[in-house]
Amino acid sequence: MYSLIKPALFRIDPESAHDLTIQSLKTVGQCFGPSAPLAGRPCEIAGLQFKNAIGLAAGLDKNGVAISGFSRLGFGHIEVGTVTPRPQPGNPKPRVFRLTEDAGLINRFGFNNLGIDALVRELVDHPYQGVIGVNIGKNKDTPNESAHTDYVSCIQKAAAVCDYITINVSSPNTPGLRDLADAGKILDVVSPVLDARAHLKNRKDNYLPVFVKLAPDFEDADLVQVLEALKRTEADGVILTNTTLDRTGLVSRHRDETGGLSGTPLTQKSEHCLKLAVEVLGETLPLISVGGVMSGDDAKRRIEIGAKLVQIYTGLIYRGPALVKDAVRMTRCS
Ligand SMILES: Cc1cc2nc3c(=O)[nH]c(=O)nc-3n(C[C@H](O)[C@H](O)[C@H](O)COP(=O)(O)O)c2cc1C
Repeated sequence: MYSLIKPALFRIDPESAHDLTIQSLKTVGQCFGPSAPLAGRPCEIAGLQFKNAIGLAAGLDKNGVAISGFSRLGFGHIEVGTVTPRPQPGNPKPRVFRLTEDAGLINRFGFNNLGIDALVRELVDHPYQGVIGVNIGKNKDTPNESAHTDYVSCIQKAAAVCDYITINVSSPNTPGLRDLADAGKILDVVSPVLDARAHLKNRKDNYLPVFVKLAPDFEDADLVQVLEALKRTEADGVILTNTTLDRTGLVSRHRDETGGLSGTPLTQKSEHCLKLAVEVLGETLPLISVGGVMSGDDAKRRIEIGAKLVQIYTGLIYRGPALVKDAVRMTRCS
């Protein structure tokens, strides 16, 4: 079915195709309601029960308007956002590019979103039975010195309507955001969020796990330091990775666009980060792998390397819903 729709979607500009997809899935969700996650490889992280290992990565449903529609693809968890305290328009268009020959995307959306209050309204009493994560960030005009106040305000508002929170310090499209993830600074954001979490419960009135999402562009030694720092906190997991600034080996005409690169060109880098993280963290912090998962085999390999969960974004654009089913099936027994 997707092989019939894809040529038409790929003929229109990527942001319009994205908006059309979200609108269609929103309508599907409104008409048919959510589906339960496909049965797959079950997993527990910090008390959360995942019915399968495959989730929707942040950024596709930033405002949480199409969770029911996405749930019909079979995901075990759906991460919405990145959301910021106040609504913001993001960067000027065009801001997303298909790198078809490379099976990748470059985006510089810049956290365009309707703000945390609008997201909370979408999530209140949501009927989705899978796990809902809210990925939080800071507004573009909030200086890094007070960034933690944006993150704290988001977790306080989102806690009661989601199952877990992800602290995003890894988008390349908000100036200076990645500086917050330096080993010497990451706790300036993470610790206040964890302090706030101590007084909060999630949508099931249970413990609210907090994950931290990192970029793939650290030098190995720096990534090790950041992971060591996180290991000493009460964070519940690490999501590796966001998009990359690296442009090695690309052939598509949009290869020099500014922004974060995802999809096949990210596969190896993301796997490398996962392997390093497994070495550093062992069993101490669960790992969620994302970046260039384009097939069921890719997903299976991430689990074999040591990830507890796997997330997908760009693969869905290139492979369609069949990728989710393949990935759930291939990870079931690995
Ligand atoms: C168009 C686009 C928008 C994204 N927006 C976000 C975002 O708002 N927050 C975030 O944490 N990650 C965001 N991401 C990163 C993805 O969640 C994911 O980490 C990354 O794309 C690597 O996975 P993939 O190769 O499967 O796409 C975005 C990715 C794309 C392609």
